[in-house]
Amino acid sequence: MNEREFKGFGGITLRADVHGMSDDPSVLLLHGGGQSRDVWQPAAEALVKAGRHVINLDLRGHGASDWASDGRYDFEAFVEDIRAVLAQLASRPVIIGAALGGWIAAAALGEDGGHLASGLVLADAPPEIDAQTALKVSDQLRLQIERTDVQAQFDPAFLRSMDLEHATGRITEAAHLLKLPVLFVRGAMSDLADSELAGRYVEQVETAEFAEIEDAGHHVAFDRADMFSAVVLDFLERRVPRFLPDYKQGSDARTLRDALGCFATGVTVVTTMSEENEPVGLTANSFTSVSLDPPLLLVCIAKTSTSLKVLEQAKHFAVNVLHIGQQPVSNAFARSGEDRFADTPWQRGLRDAPLLSGALANFECERFALHDGGDHVILVGQVERAKYEPRRDPLLYFKGKYRRLHFA
Ligand SMILES: Cc1cc2nc3c(=O)[nH]c(=O)nc-3n(C[C@H](O)[C@H](O)[C@H](O)COP(=O)(O)O)c2cc1C
Repeated sequence: MNEREFKGFGGITLRADVHGMSDDPSVLLLHGGGQSRDVWQPAAEALVKAGRHVINLDLRGHGASDWASDGRYDFEAFVEDIRAVLAQLASRPVIIGAALGGWIAAAALGEDGGHLASGLVLADAPPEIDAQTALKVSDQLRLQIERTDVQAQFDPAFLRSMDLEHATGRITEAAHLLKLPVLFVRGAMSDLADSELAGRYVEQVETAEFAEIEDAGHHVAFDRADMFSAVVLDFLERRVPRFLPDYKQGSDARTLRDALGCFATGVTVVTTMSEENEPVGLTANSFTSVSLDPPLLLVCIAKTSTSLKVLEQAKHFAVNVLHIGQQPVSNAFARSGEDRFADTPWQRGLRDAPLLSGALANFECERFALHDGGDHVILVGQVERAKYEPRRDPLLYFKGKYRRLHFA
């Protein structure tokens, strides 16, 4: 086991225990308010045995992490800490959060569309906390403070800043946006989340499943560590497996698509003018530069594409590279049954091929070759003219989703 430091929101130092092999898929453990990473000890051991790399973090003002000198223990500060920690990890972990740890993870991941993690386990982290429950939580924590044995575990200033009502609003809104595998584990005897409430939450999160552990209360991961670990490991093996399926010729094409989707690309719209003098175009990310001398590029057009016929016949075509603001253009040129050029300003190029105005780059091409490419046709063009816009960022496409540039 090693200790690792992270920079949190506002430069605060957060400390974590790190267990297991760094090449294994990682799990980030977030304890509840008023606790420390110690509560996860049994779960961390079980996870490492099951081949997971575990990062067990102390939240700000808790355990070995720094106490906030500016007193920032509001929900936002905790959420920003988690975002900062996730940005410092080499891979996207499954987050397992108890109570406050779960709430901040649910808010951070929901608001980010879940791109920052590969799964989420909420250990008795009810999404709605009414005023009465909030009081109960604070009272329990105050009682803890009075007990000398846990006094050093957290900064008492944290209690004064907790705004669970604000948190509830954010978590509930974020629930609809969560798209990653979610498991909600409830202690059957928990006084915080009744089953009905937990059930409602699970219904809101499309990808969520629910497990209840008998004989466990609010501290479900601690009360019945054995049961908790078993339920979580089962979830991980099913929904975030250690070994991903591989593709062999003839096997599930989905896996092949997913593997190909690991290659990040830009997005283009390939255009031409039909013999009837109508503009034709479709979204394509299969664009590749081929040769500098002669200047060649290619795009692959599906044989099912209705634009293919016109493209095969046309002597000239253009490739328009889209910028970050042109996601609607990409969508419009990938949807059928609409006038794709109606809402997108364009003008004719040298040889009439439509050039989308404001694109990141336009390549005006003469058809150089057509090759058979299985269920696609490889269209190779010789570039007659190219221009580009130096001040804009590209629209990116990765694993079936649009992305934006992120400078590390
Ligand atoms: C990001 C993105 C990339 C695409 N890349 C290609 C591509 O490279 N080749 C292709 O044939 N279709 C591609 N498509 C799908 C076509 O744009 C889509 O099927 C379109 O409706 C075809 O139009 P058409 O049938 O009018 O030609 C892509 C779609 C999207 C959203």
